[in-house]
Amino acid sequence: MPSTIRVDVHLQADDLARALRDDVFLGLGERPRTLPPKWFYDDRGSELFDLITRLPEYYPTRCEREILEREAAKIAARSGADTLVELGSGTSEKTRILLDAFELTSQLRRFIPFDVSEQTLVDASQAIAAEHPGLDVHAVVGDFERHLPKLPTGGRRMVAFLGGTIGNMDPLQRKAFLSDLRAGLAPGDSLLLGTDLVKDPARLVPAYDDAAGVTAEFNRNVLHVMNHRLGADFAPDRFAHVALWNATEEWIEMRLRSLDDQTVSIPTLGMSIDIEAGEEIRTEISAKFRLAKVARELDATGFELDSWWTDSAGDFALSLAFVR
Ligand SMILES: C[S@@+](CC[C@H](N)C(=O)[O-])C[C@H]1O[C@@H](n2cnc3c(N)ncnc32)[C@H](O)[C@@H]1O
Repeated sequence: MPSTIRVDVHLQADDLARALRDDVFLGLGERPRTLPPKWFYDDRGSELFDLITRLPEYYPTRCEREILEREAAKIAARSGADTLVELGSGTSEKTRILLDAFELTSQLRRFIPFDVSEQTLVDASQAIAAEHPGLDVHAVVGDFERHLPKLPTGGRRMVAFLGGTIGNMDPLQRKAFLSDLRAGLAPGDSLLLGTDLVKDPARLVPAYDDAAGVTAEFNRNVLHVMNHRLGADFAPDRFAHVALWNATEEWIEMRLRSLDDQTVSIPTLGMSIDIEAGEEIRTEISAKFRLAKVARELDATGFELDSWWTDSAGDFALSLAFVR
């Protein structure tokens, strides 16, 4: 039986432009200046992230893949799901391991990848539909901080949120996100969550500041996105890529540091910003976790931790939790 593909778009171009304008207006207007990480991911940003996952310094993808290769069959059986939702799915590369495990159990009917990056999502959906005849692929273009209520309902769902992407949210954002997600799920539904673990900063920092400079290019891509979508005139090569470990918050911060005094104009916002030499824009946090924190945050938002797996080096964890 051929697969079916459907794409729901909840982020039309004008909505996307409005959301970007709001985030830039608020984030660059405040001190310290910040930008949300979702704006890295235009087509080029998604390509760069894909390259990052293959870098020698970037261990999370390899570790999460190791866990999936070892545990996917158990996860598929334990979840009992007939619908796999993937938030922040990107290229869904590691998800293939889960899909293959589900195929062996013949239990999966639907795959619902959800991402802000439309072209990457459509390309991945087409590839997966071709690889899994009979699977209904229902892709959703949206922002998981705003559009979770638009997730297709029905069936017994397992929501995969991989790659440590939850670490891009601060504790309050995580609480709101997990509560919203829980509100839309039903008894029997589950969450498969990938979290990067606290470890020696000597290993953490290079994962966000690789020798080949790919992460630096990814970081500066947000400036290209603002130039392209808002007509801004950022000069990306006048900003240095910075990655540092914040030991108090237990998160990595990525920043862009201005190399000189500069004035940037953003005509669509009627904004002109004076940025001093050395001033920084925080573009991403990537929180690292411990088992107790994951269990506590899941419990506080209506999930019950069922299983916890790490890779052999103990660098990264996958947890499976059911709605309570
Ligand atoms: C760190 S990458 C992880 C990709 C993939 N899940 C993996 O494990 O390799 C984050 C992904 O989430 C998507 N994303 C980021 N913020 C988002 C948001 N607010 N709503 C929906 N997708 C988002 C990005 O486009 C990207 O594909």
